[in-house]
Amino acid sequence: MKTSNFSRREWLKKGTLSLGALALVPHEIWSNNVIKAQKEGKTFLYNSNHQFNEFTPPFTKEENTLTILRSNENPYGPPPKSAKAFQDEVFNGNRYAWKTLNELEEKIAKNEGINKNQILMGPGSSDLLEKVAMVFFQNGGNVISADPSYMSLMVVAKSVGGNWKSYKLLDDAQHDLDAMEAGIDENTKLVYICNPNNPTGSITDAKKLRDFCSRVSEKVPVFVDEAYLELSENGLRDSMNTLVAEGKNVIVARTFSKIHGMAGLRIGYAIGKKETLDIISEITRGGMGITGPSVAAATTSLENQDFLDACKTKITDARIYTMRYLKDKNFSYLPSETNFIIFEIPMEGSAFLKKIYAKNVAVKSFKFWDKNWCRVSIGTMDEMKLFTKAMTEIFA
Ligand SMILES: Cc1ncc(COP(=O)(O)O)c(C=O)c1O
Repeated sequence: MKTSNFSRREWLKKGTLSLGALALVPHEIWSNNVIKAQKEGKTFLYNSNHQFNEFTPPFTKEENTLTILRSNENPYGPPPKSAKAFQDEVFNGNRYAWKTLNELEEKIAKNEGINKNQILMGPGSSDLLEKVAMVFFQNGGNVISADPSYMSLMVVAKSVGGNWKSYKLLDDAQHDLDAMEAGIDENTKLVYICNPNNPTGSITDAKKLRDFCSRVSEKVPVFVDEAYLELSENGLRDSMNTLVAEGKNVIVARTFSKIHGMAGLRIGYAIGKKETLDIISEITRGGMGITGPSVAAATTSLENQDFLDACKTKITDARIYTMRYLKDKNFSYLPSETNFIIFEIPMEGSAFLKKIYAKNVAVKSFKFWDKNWCRVSIGTMDEMKLFTKAMTEIFA
């Protein structure tokens, strides 16, 4: 684990853990909140509940002038060969993409060391997070996850009648696996682990996680969201896919949106025990939402490891540059093995966004653990220099 300038004492000062279920606000209420906030002139409020607040301004015509460091996208993708494959495949757009999807699944099965019937494809991994939530929580139950974490699965679980049991990350921003395991009760339907975690960027020790998943999956399925794992120091060597291969009730989700640079092309997948994935496929159809051109682009990207390696090197360099800057300026940041960094800001999130958007830099802000945070995605080195310049001007 890399160190940050977050002192241990600072962490311990954070006070009581926010254990227990947090009230989530369903999507409709969020949108009502947005409309209400806009009427009140608070246009930067987007998504809020009493303990986990995320801020992002509405999209505007000025987007094109912004340096976008907001959604953890890869500034270098898609790989040129994938873009070409996408274009060529458009001409087969009169057909459903089952044949090429089948070929992509064969490639994925080989890479992951599993059988083809252990894969569920989707238009992005969010689609799969949501489908899993819809199916698992249709009759209630609770989902256990970290606080804070990536909320897609929990939001949908809650909206269909499930509860969220959240466990604050440990002092070093790893998952509190012991507390999470102890929190499993007769109503627990799923444990969700995001590793590395969003929005913190922190990674949980692979050996500890593997032991946890191995043990816990005997009781309830464990969903491990590895959207950013390729960007971590050990990369896919730390994947929980080996547990899937061993037949454990573990679901691993991956996306082509991050290291492959295809967020806008919408493709991702989950691997797991056939019997568990069948429950989801009985109600939903994984591959139906994916376009043929996206399948072609993803297939080509899997054959372009050099491009992916080059992206990782450039993103890591820009992340180190940004961390050094934050350290020099005494901003407390959490350790990150991803293409984003979260750090504390000494002002309320929406006020900060107003200032940084005025400098044409788009980031996100959050409020959790009673603190205000900025999450900046790692762009090109030039983009990170624009970000640090804006920061210096704001906090001069
Ligand atoms: C942790 C995590 N999981 C899943 C996703 C969903 O990605 P996509 O739907 O683009 O595959 C994201 C997107 O930012 C994410 O941060």
